[in-house]
Amino acid sequence: MIVNGKHYRTVWWQANKVKMIEQNMLPNRFKIVTYTKYKQVCNAIYTMVTRGAGAIGGTAGYGMALAAVNAPDKNFYKFMQKAKKDIEATRPTAQNLFYATNLVFEAIKDYKNDPKKAREVALEVAEDIAQEDSDSCERIGRHGSKLIKSGYNISTHCNAGWLAFVDWGSALSPIYWAKMKQKKKVFVYADETRPRLQGAKLTAWELFHNKIPHKIVCDNTTGALMQRGLIDMCIVGSDRIARNGDVANKIGTYTLATMAKAHGVPFYVAAPTSTIDITCKSGKDIPIEERDEKEVLEIDGIRIANHGSHAVNIAFDVTPAKLVAGIITEQGIIKPSWKKIQALNLQPVS
Ligand code: MRU
Repeated sequence: MIVNGKHYRTVWWQANKVKMIEQNMLPNRFKIVTYTKYKQVCNAIYTMVTRGAGAIGGTAGYGMALAAVNAPDKNFYKFMQKAKKDIEATRPTAQNLFYATNLVFEAIKDYKNDPKKAREVALEVAEDIAQEDSDSCERIGRHGSKLIKSGYNISTHCNAGWLAFVDWGSALSPIYWAKMKQKKKVFVYADETRPRLQGAKLTAWELFHNKIPHKIVCDNTTGALMQRGLIDMCIVGSDRIARNGDVANKIGTYTLATMAKAHGVPFYVAAPTSTIDITCKSGKDIPIEERDEKEVLEIDGIRIANHGSHAVNIAFDVTPAKLVAGIITEQGIIKPSWKKIQALNLQPVS
């Protein structure tokens, strides 16, 4: 994405350091942060300096490469085992995190006694993961844009744009393609996405910088917009998809999908196949993160709720496959079913 005339990825490697956009400061400040230790990278994922499935995956891959740089020659393999465990403990739901740590770890296994070579391999694989994420999202844009007719009003939830991936995004990529490459007229309604407001803070910022007309709506507004016939389709992202096509995504997605069904609005999910976890039979098997209640009780550190009251903060929900019109992947648009997902021939990440 272009910011201030310069193209940025959300996360990248530079001179043995991991660099990324500090997403907690957006939209008020655009800042790049630099990390030299894998534990700093763990903290960045945990505190959501970077977030969104693809960006977390890219960051996890680079985190493994950074661990390899810092690992002592003696006990190299043990150090890497610990780094993998630490990175995987940061956030439980985004499948791309585990996809990345496992790919890097599997690749260095053959060089247990050759740390120099293992370091090279770890970085090569991390760079491949980031490139694959960017390429897949670009292809998602191309496939998904075919669903968009000029004049469409599109609803999206949370941020599954460029900031949630290494580049392009998943849910927003078809919109970027439709507008930029195909010159279609599009309008986006971005759910603000309580509690962390990724829609209001990040999606709106991205859309603004890409000159996509949009408005932010409270999460409880979209039903009324659908009732008034103002939404033509929904496109959302995903953090993990089970092999039966059930989709885990930011809390509120299930409500949106149910609302879309009630109003006959097609509900699409956009995700690279690296988000599909074939070891999860259904959405029930997807681990769902629960976060600090403070995120609900406060906004930007200011208490908004009654003192003495507590809150539930489930970060993701599961939308059953039957509510999903199609999954827009880099391989094309597929029906959310075991048969179609099986045909992708994906391997489990161990
Ligand atoms: O908690 P986050 O911000 O990491 O949540 C991830 C998301 O942004 C969404 O769930 C998104 O729609 C899918 S991630 C590409």
